[in-house]
Amino acid sequence: MRKKVTVVGAGNVGATVAQRVFDKGYADVVLVDIIEGLPQGKALDMLESGPVLGTDAKVVGSNGYDETANSDVVVITSGIARKPGMSRDDLLLTNMKIVTSVVTEVAKRSPNSVLLPVTNPLDAMAQRAFQVSKFPKNRVVGMAGILDTARFRTFLAQELKVSVEVVSAWVLGGHGDTMVPVVGSTNVGGVPVAKLIPKARLDEIVKRTQNGGAEIVNLLKTGSAYYAPSAAVVQMVESILLDKKQILPCTVYLEGEYGIKGLFVGVPVKLGAGGVDQVIQFDLTSEESAALQKSAAAVAELVEVMKKAG
Ligand code: NAI
Ligand code: 2OP
Repeated sequence: MRKKVTVVGAGNVGATVAQRVFDKGYADVVLVDIIEGLPQGKALDMLESGPVLGTDAKVVGSNGYDETANSDVVVITSGIARKPGMSRDDLLLTNMKIVTSVVTEVAKRSPNSVLLPVTNPLDAMAQRAFQVSKFPKNRVVGMAGILDTARFRTFLAQELKVSVEVVSAWVLGGHGDTMVPVVGSTNVGGVPVAKLIPKARLDEIVKRTQNGGAEIVNLLKTGSAYYAPSAAVVQMVESILLDKKQILPCTVYLEGEYGIKGLFVGVPVKLGAGGVDQVIQFDLTSEESAALQKSAAAVAELVEVMKKAG
């Protein structure tokens, strides 16, 4: 029997995730949205691509949750996205309500699933999904670090005129302006990046990475990125469904690792069938470690605002 993936939110990110998973053919997909006809129309259109792509997987759209029952992974992309001039944090209270209602519905019907929040502000929404679902911490894992790291790798590969595949890099911390591109652990073909790019230029690339989401928003004007985000989500879905045990930067609940307690923050994790197998501890420089603490403090502020809002 094929695995089952539910994607809530049939907008730019959700529909592209559904399409990428469907195209692979190893999982059936349920696409949910509140807009009548939208998930049904997109799902039917995808299904009709099956004969051309050679996939027999099923994809259905719905405005309800009954079809989502017994999903293995539930990707949550429902909510509002930012427009030019907005930060991810401006989305907090609206998306908190949406994520609360969505998680209540999916957790009831798929109590053994892995929840994969994407909605922004990501770290706070992962924290909310964890609280509302009451799932064990290893089954709530947010997507952001793979996207931020992919941006960093893209810019470094462009700079050095090498394949993106030979750039090994990590971006940790919260998915916001305080994210931490870990330059000390970044290498290109095994050579530390600091030996290949002068510091001033490397600082510019780090800044561009931290501003990567806003760069796309400013170009698109009507919404935010979705091609790279959906590819990042699918890498996580695949590591879980196929029990690949990849080591990826993901947003998980920390209980003392990296000196952070009781918060969702992006760190390297081993991702397999049950969700998070293990948090991987990196050696960070004191500067990187301080930057990670600062980033966690920014996440904690948002969690505090949510607490006050109820
Ligand atoms: P979008 O506006 O294209 O799609 C959002 C969809 O959610 C809409 O179709 C809307 O009808 C639906 N929705 C709203 N309330 C709902 C509810 N209660 N139940 C079901 N569906 C509901 O937005 P897009 O571009 O797909 O982005 C989605 C979210 O993902 C945003 O919050 C965005 O900021 C975030 N995002 C996060 C990334 C990350 O790295 N974590 C990367 C890219 C986007
Ligand atoms: C991004 O970084 C919108 O958070 C999203 O593109």
